[in-house]
Amino acid sequence: MKGRKDLLDIESLSVEEINFLLETALPFKNLIRQSVKKMPPLRGRHVLTLFYEPSTRTRSSFEIAAKRLSADVTNFAVSTSSVVKGESIIDTIDTMQAMQVDYIVVRHGAAGVPNLIAQHTKASVINAGDGHHAHPTQGLLDTFTINEVLGHAAGRRIAIVGDIQHSRVARSTSTILRKLGAQVAVFGPGPLIPDDRHSDMISFKTFDELFDWKPEVIYLLRIQLERQKEQFFPSLHEYHRLYGVTDERLRHIRAQGIYVMHPGPVNRGVELVDGVMTYERTLINQQVENGIAARMAVLYWLEPGTVARTAGD
Ligand code: CP
Repeated sequence: MKGRKDLLDIESLSVEEINFLLETALPFKNLIRQSVKKMPPLRGRHVLTLFYEPSTRTRSSFEIAAKRLSADVTNFAVSTSSVVKGESIIDTIDTMQAMQVDYIVVRHGAAGVPNLIAQHTKASVINAGDGHHAHPTQGLLDTFTINEVLGHAAGRRIAIVGDIQHSRVARSTSTILRKLGAQVAVFGPGPLIPDDRHSDMISFKTFDELFDWKPEVIYLLRIQLERQKEQFFPSLHEYHRLYGVTDERLRHIRAQGIYVMHPGPVNRGVELVDGVMTYERTLINQQVENGIAARMAVLYWLEPGTVARTAGD
């Protein structure tokens, strides 16, 4: 299937493109489990990671994915760059463009920055998370993981729990799952459940209601205190009591055989107790491993441009 120049969100992907990426990730998952983990399709290509926000999983996962495909990788260290001297994003991109990078993987706290960069460079731009807008490769790796354990997403019941309002993960993962025919429900503090969510997304008031729905996956989110301008619940202790997976709820989850997912990083004692991390149907490490395969598929598929666009094009 013909690639696009950029991957900026899930909304703009067709179901055919999503399925192509998920199918392409399958042999890459097998490859990264071999003793020789490398193949040559991106030999001679250069990937730049440009993270204006912290990351453990996404940045290193892109770096590993690019290296598995034989690309060269430069990790741009924003905190020690001329960004701290006031250099603008566009001037930074122009500088990187002059170094002839082929792919720019960008994370930024402001929604829309990857789109802005994509309009300004011939390099393929991949959104690695922008504000509360989108995190498309997280959506892909989550769906790949659900396919692995449940066979397919269509018709599956997935409950997303936590701070839906500020979560780019919730937006991208719910969008891709709904595109593939899954039933997606949400549960969390009232002010953190968007009023403008899609009408087919049920919202629960209690964990008991959620359990009665018989979810096959409970997808926990971190409370994004860094994106909240006001206080939406009395305390983290109260959040854990009402919306966290406690020991008692974990017993229920185990009895129902529900899978547990989380994009990481987790806040133990807030959205989950320690026992969730060792529960046999917790998929957190599987998600991390699948992140490499999904990102390899994206890098393999995208087609960097040959002509830099300029403002006004
Ligand atoms: N899931 C995720 O985006 O994790 P990082 O913030 O560690 O990249």
